[in-house]
Amino acid sequence: MNLTVRIERYGAPEVLQLVDFPATEPGPSEVRLRHTAIGLNFIDTYQRSGLYPIPLPSGLGQEAAGEITAVGPGVSEFQVGDRVAYAGGPLGAYSEARTLPVAKLVKLPAAVSDEAAAALMLKGMTAFYLLHLSYAVKPGDALLVHAAAGGVGSVLVPWAKHLGARVIGTVGSAAKARLARDAGCDEVILYREQDFAAEVKRLTAGRGVDVVYDSVGKDTFIGSLDALKRRGMLVTYGNASGKAPPFEPVLLAEKGSLFITRPTLAHYTTTREELDTAANALFDVLARNIVAPQIDQRYGLSEVARAHTELETRATTGASVLLPGR
Ligand SMILES: NC(=O)c1ccc[n+]([C@@H]2O[C@H](COP(=O)([O-])OP(=O)(O)OC[C@H]3O[C@@H](n4cnc5c(N)ncnc54)[C@H](OP(=O)(O)O)[C@@H]3O)[C@@H](O)[C@H]2O)c1
Repeated sequence: MNLTVRIERYGAPEVLQLVDFPATEPGPSEVRLRHTAIGLNFIDTYQRSGLYPIPLPSGLGQEAAGEITAVGPGVSEFQVGDRVAYAGGPLGAYSEARTLPVAKLVKLPAAVSDEAAAALMLKGMTAFYLLHLSYAVKPGDALLVHAAAGGVGSVLVPWAKHLGARVIGTVGSAAKARLARDAGCDEVILYREQDFAAEVKRLTAGRGVDVVYDSVGKDTFIGSLDALKRRGMLVTYGNASGKAPPFEPVLLAEKGSLFITRPTLAHYTTTREELDTAANALFDVLARNIVAPQIDQRYGLSEVARAHTELETRATTGASVLLPGR
């Protein structure tokens, strides 16, 4: 028996089925893992709903930690018993065990727990490339981080503070505002109640911020451009409220010769060197306690539909994990 979450059609969380789906023998460059903890990410809901189409039927989930139980022919860099984690690669992390290519696998240092790795590999490597590569944050920069109490937000905020930035966060509730402040936000805006762009301009004496990290998409896109300084950078990296709308490039001129990028983690961790750089940067900030794992929800595999509903209805904070055997 190998409990695995699969979908046969797109739809609401009810399409998530818990079935017995055997993990195959590992082939060349593959290993089999027994998962100890699995990360839940907003992208999983896009793939379930069809916003990001995937070939069906399919497994779901792209982040987990666990122990290697078998290695395929030609695998020399990993051994049975290794503690490992991954983010990205073929879908299918929502399972007790699975077989997958070693391309996205990294060994876990002792200082990083399985739960922390499962919760943060994807979100934390994303925070790394957002803060260092999409835009290189410098001491004194002013940042706006949307959904600052969410999964990626709660990693971005303390890491950006460590880099010496002033961090303004937006959140959907007063309870989330407290969490965002605890994570290190200098100022927090309740963007469901306040015009966040006007508030950012007020907080920055009319200048605007150097960079906006926007994971919300549709609802915040124009406001994010308006919150930027002249020649500022919008990093729009998610669609929690829906995809950002199409726009004419001249809009960027009108709003201050702005820059915009729409990145995705896969293009920043394509090579083994890029993957190791991002993973090691994450393990370093975890080991030095610069970023503390904020795991606020834990679910069993059989509770996956509830987990998706809570993530999509803004009922979660920090990161969520699925724990096989719970
Ligand atoms: N491009 C990349 O490489 C990359 C990598 C990882 C994640 N992402 C994206 O980053 C975003 C955050 O991912 P996550 O897993 O960490 O999720 P999350 O931030 O934990 O959850 C999403 C949050 O977005 C906010 N939100 C605003 N409007 C919303 C709406 N209409 N519906 C639902 N939520 C809304 C909510 O916070 P408030 O209640 O505070 O508004 C909610 O808690 C997602 O869009 C994801 O796709 C992109």
